[in-house]
Amino acid sequence: MTLAFGAIRRHPLLAMIATPEISLAVRADAPRIAAMSRDLVEQGLGWRWTPSRILRVMRDRATNVAVAREGEGISGFGIMQYKDDEAHLLLLAVDPMRRRKGIGSALMAWLETTALTAGTGCIYLEARARNAEARAFYGRLGYIEILTVRGLYSNSEDGIRIAKDLWSKPPSGG
Ligand SMILES: CC(C)(COP(=O)(O)OP(=O)(O)OC[C@H]1O[C@@H](n2cnc3c(N)ncnc32)[C@H](O)[C@@H]1OP(=O)(O)O)[C@@H](O)C(=O)NCCC(=O)NCCS
Repeated sequence: MTLAFGAIRRHPLLAMIATPEISLAVRADAPRIAAMSRDLVEQGLGWRWTPSRILRVMRDRATNVAVAREGEGISGFGIMQYKDDEAHLLLLAVDPMRRRKGIGSALMAWLETTALTAGTGCIYLEARARNAEARAFYGRLGYIEILTVRGLYSNSEDGIRIAKDLWSKPPSGG
């Protein structure tokens, strides 16, 4: 999937933040992305997003793996899958040392712009109910919590289904 750079630069989230370089991941990024998923997202759940699975989704035309590059390294990544009329954010993480600098917002802006370019206006994702940081982050970006899914991650850990309608106008006066 190709993106018009101008479309990304016009995204409203990017008006508020310094813009790191966001691009599609390349094969060599897979081990780092998988390790970040294991350590920052999948703690306590078992490692499902291994390097080979990351490589598989990179080859999938319906999925984008985006990375934030800083120097030689990756400070964050996001994986979004596109379906006919919705997109699903599968993973998102930013290096703990690089948080609160707008990198997560820039990754989401890139992925949202890609979804719109593909004609998809609804984005869904799930977060752990106890992940207050992620819930605050998505709330700030205009995402709405729509459902609690009991035992989504394990018998004792609930998930929150979160969504954003990219075509709806943001509330005024905020
Ligand atoms: C959630 C995450 C991706 C946010 O990345 P980030 O680069 O720090 O996010 P940003 O800097 O773009 O934050 C944008 C806004 O979101 C909100 N926000 C972000 N992190 C927050 C936190 N820990 N607590 C409260 N609000 C937070 C703030 O409003 C922030 O703006 P501000 O810094 O000007 O106050 C990052 O914390 C992370 O990787 N967490 C671990 C993995 C994870 O939970 N992934 C999501 C799973 S669904």
